[in-house]
Amino acid sequence: MNELTKKYLNFDHTTVDTSTIRVIFDELIAVLSHHNCQYYELASPEISDGEYDILFSLLKQLEEEYPEQKNLNSPTLKIWTASLADWFTKAEHPIPLISLSNSYNTQDLLDRDKQLKRIAEKEWLDQWSYNVDPKLDGSSVEIVYRKGHYLQAITRWDGTIGEDITNNVSKLRNIPLYIKAFSELDEVRLRWEIVLPINSFEAINKELIKSWDAVFANPRNAAAWTLRQRDSQIVYERGLVIFIYDVLSGLLFDKQTDQMQYLIDSWIPVHAWKKYGVSLDQVVEICKDTKVISQLESDNIEMDGLVIKVNDMKAREIFGSTEHHPRRAMAFKFPTKQVAARIHSVTYQVGRTWAITPVAELEPIALWGVTISRATLHNFDNTQSLDIRIGDRVRVQRSGEVIPYILGPILSRREWVERPIGIPEICPVCSTPTLQNDTEVAIVCPSLNCEGKIVQQMQHLVAKNCLNIQWLWASIIELLVQQRYLNNPADLFWLSSKWIELKTLQWIGDKKIWKILEEIEWTKTKELWRRIHGFWIKFVWKKVSQDLSKWFSSWRAEKGNNKDAHRTDLLTFFSDDNYLTELYGLGKQTIESVGAWSNSQQTIALIEALDEEEVKVVLDNMSIRGWSLSGKKFVITWSFEQYSRDQLSDFVIHEGGALSSSVSKNTDYLLCWEKAWSKLTKAKEAWVTILKLSEFFELTGKTIQTKKPTVQQTGLFG
Ligand code: IVH
Repeated sequence: MNELTKKYLNFDHTTVDTSTIRVIFDELIAVLSHHNCQYYELASPEISDGEYDILFSLLKQLEEEYPEQKNLNSPTLKIWTASLADWFTKAEHPIPLISLSNSYNTQDLLDRDKQLKRIAEKEWLDQWSYNVDPKLDGSSVEIVYRKGHYLQAITRWDGTIGEDITNNVSKLRNIPLYIKAFSELDEVRLRWEIVLPINSFEAINKELIKSWDAVFANPRNAAAWTLRQRDSQIVYERGLVIFIYDVLSGLLFDKQTDQMQYLIDSWIPVHAWKKYGVSLDQVVEICKDTKVISQLESDNIEMDGLVIKVNDMKAREIFGSTEHHPRRAMAFKFPTKQVAARIHSVTYQVGRTWAITPVAELEPIALWGVTISRATLHNFDNTQSLDIRIGDRVRVQRSGEVIPYILGPILSRREWVERPIGIPEICPVCSTPTLQNDTEVAIVCPSLNCEGKIVQQMQHLVAKNCLNIQWLWASIIELLVQQRYLNNPADLFWLSSKWIELKTLQWIGDKKIWKILEEIEWTKTKELWRRIHGFWIKFVWKKVSQDLSKWFSSWRAEKGNNKDAHRTDLLTFFSDDNYLTELYGLGKQTIESVGAWSNSQQTIALIEALDEEEVKVVLDNMSIRGWSLSGKKFVITWSFEQYSRDQLSDFVIHEGGALSSSVSKNTDYLLCWEKAWSKLTKAKEAWVTILKLSEFFELTGKTIQTKKPTVQQTGLFG
């Protein structure tokens, strides 16, 4: 038992007065959090429940005697406040909560490191180190602190919008409701994981079994379910705990290690296991170390892997992110759970990429909390090379949120009556004879009029991240495709001319038709990237579409064409592979893909159809507002203390300038962070003018208003 615990179990009341009470409160709360952690997180209590009660009552009693000195972080505040929310309201994540890309072997980590090295090379960045954290398997949550006070907790949900669970989260055993170190900071947004300790999980299930109730499949489900209860008292009773792992905004550090130390010093709960400041080789060693894995897997907190993160924050910003994942971090998943199931038949689907894929229909089986009755077989190459047959018992794997897939047949269970999986000779939707693509393993339907393909394409075009036409439900699209109103993306913009006919269609209804046409009309002024994304060009995902639309503005500025953009311009831009190759973050495959797309007959017809309908290409967000940098070509390197790279590149484009990713003889200016100057030999050789930030703003006569937030380090209780 530690000294402080002893001190408060044998508490000497004569030491209390107005000058000592604050220290007493701080110490007592620290003692209680320590024992909470021992009990709930580590499952190794150091004191009895009775002793814990003594400490808890002491705190309550002192708080009643000195109410004005009461610490806002006190665990006594967590128990008795009533539930506020009747149901959860939605709340926005100003900085999206993106997730991590997964790796299942160390080769993936080596590949990522190689990719980072390629990016780093362009940025004169020569080294960085890695940190390894445990990947906690619970619910991800964002918490906002204002001037140190706990203000709001939001679930992740789709990453941009979540549910406001402020009241429930305030009842967690180890949540800080007041962080003194943040008291001078307007707003700090932190990212945490809420988990249910395994011993609590087992105790809950035991109770549920006793009362003949359904049990929870795993601690993650139990945690997520508990957080969504209206009665926040349950959250307290269940004993959920929270750990921090990331800062979203409000604090700025050069290294993650410093950031984590600062959080620990501010008494914010961080999981005890970590390996910081290690090299790539050491990362690989840790991931291969079976002792490490079995130690973590036997922890009282459920973990499903490790998270490898780049330590240096500057490097993190340079590496950026794809649409879904940051490049600076990667999850290394522990080997996953498997189960055996029998394939009773195989069906065929026209998938999102238009390939016809086989799907195994399974005899339903429970695997790690969900019932599985189907699993993808990917492609026919896969079924043949694994020799999977109808009637086989197969090993099915499910890891995390990934769709279950089949690892292979269990040959020892084969009864030799199983039948091979045939390759469909005709398309399951339109019955056109299928084709095998030379370059890929896929079996495709060659028909341009295949309804299955058109439905997929249209569904993508109207999706949230494309034109976002919410009234065009999947069933309506299917109907409109069947009735030949929609044969290609351009048809969408013709629908309004057919509204009288549409009214005769059963079960759409006047009001719905009106809503749909109205929404289609609105899309004409939506950002260009939505349309680019909607065209469904191979490798052109949302983030790439956004970048392409931005670079398009810049390209036009460079070409001196500043009037309204024209769609055929877009095609010229997509075929300008010399230009595209220079851009930051665009791969060879993507450049080839947009080139091929812009040259195809179908695209040209599509663009012509769009022209006829006079759909205005609006470069909405990226429109040029000033001319101070007109025609000048910039390279922006490194990140800057006050502004992000994106802020600066948007600013250049708004001012009529153009951007590329590396210095060449065409570059006019290199905008550079002062501390990286020594590394600019290439720029100096190319006789490029190097600008500091202050000189850059002098050139434009303007500055960027909003700055990145900074931390004023106040230190512990300081
Ligand atoms: S870092 C921007 N660190 O794993 C990346 N994530 O897909 C921020 N998770 O939903 C994530 N433990 O909820 C990070 N130590 C850890 C983590 C962790 C668990 C979760 C997180 C996210 C998922 C990754």
